[in-house]
Amino acid sequence: MKESGRGQACANIALTKYWGKRPGTANAPATPSISLTLDPLRTETTVQMIDTADDQVVLNGVEATGRPKERIVWFLDIWRDKGLISGSVFVSSFNSFPTAAGLASSASGFAALTMALADLAQADLSRRELSRLARLGSGSAARSIFGGIAAMPLGDNPAARCVLEAEATPWTMVIAVVDAPEKTVGSTEGMERSRTASPYYRAWTALAKKDYATVLHGVMHRDFTRVGETMEANMYAMHGCMLATRPSLPYWSPGTLEVLQEAKVQRSKGLEAYATVDAGAHVALLCRHDDADAVADMLSLLMDRERVMICRPAGHAEIPA
Ligand code: DP6
Repeated sequence: MKESGRGQACANIALTKYWGKRPGTANAPATPSISLTLDPLRTETTVQMIDTADDQVVLNGVEATGRPKERIVWFLDIWRDKGLISGSVFVSSFNSFPTAAGLASSASGFAALTMALADLAQADLSRRELSRLARLGSGSAARSIFGGIAAMPLGDNPAARCVLEAEATPWTMVIAVVDAPEKTVGSTEGMERSRTASPYYRAWTALAKKDYATVLHGVMHRDFTRVGETMEANMYAMHGCMLATRPSLPYWSPGTLEVLQEAKVQRSKGLEAYATVDAGAHVALLCRHDDADAVADMLSLLMDRERVMICRPAGHAEIPA
């Protein structure tokens, strides 16, 4: 074990969504998922051994308390229980993108922390083992261990794998950061509520398996239209399941619908971009690399240009040199 370690990873947005956990497992998803890892949505994390009774966590320069800290301490406990590290740890993490924008920071956060802890532990862990560990922190983080397009299958203790390297991925995500209040129900709680109280939950998990197979096949064949259409339909199905949850889980704001409508109008005019929305209000539009500027211009008609982010496929999570 070293005195300190460093890691970095990029966020990802799912093409087919993970929404639901299998009860009685260690954060094993109830739906398989596929995602695109995105540059420049990057998290850089440093960990250091400290001589104090408790761990210390600093996120974007501010000392963390409450739930965000508890979640990280709990994750450090897993590494300690496995004998990979010992003693108290100081964690400092920076996002290159505004966390308040509500973009997927738990994915890049836990993936970067996993890389930093692997560096600290000096353990010989394969990328699949790293992905499994990251999943314990946050399901979507398992995918951020890999760059390009990553797939996470079902299983008792699944790991993600890379299905298309970043350099071979011909698609870009253009993200519209929609004006929205901070969300009140996080993914972990929302998933549990949907599992126990959405009449559409079973239909959703069954459909998710079909969409996963369709998108995986589409990615292999670089079939953009098939991937895009299935991605968008999968997103609507997930939000249908969320909305039907009692009490309802509405994540959208008026701006979300505005972007979704505009994307549809532009598609009918020949600009081929497909929309997806996570457990939040922001919309990500998937397009071919060459159409990214046109998609960003289209979004700029609806919102300030600084709220529009062109995100290219990112590489794998790393221990920086
Ligand atoms: C809607 O990975 O944040 O973004 O495992 O409880 O941390 P936990 O959940 P998390 O859920 C992501 C949900 C999603 C869809 C997705 O990224 O696949």
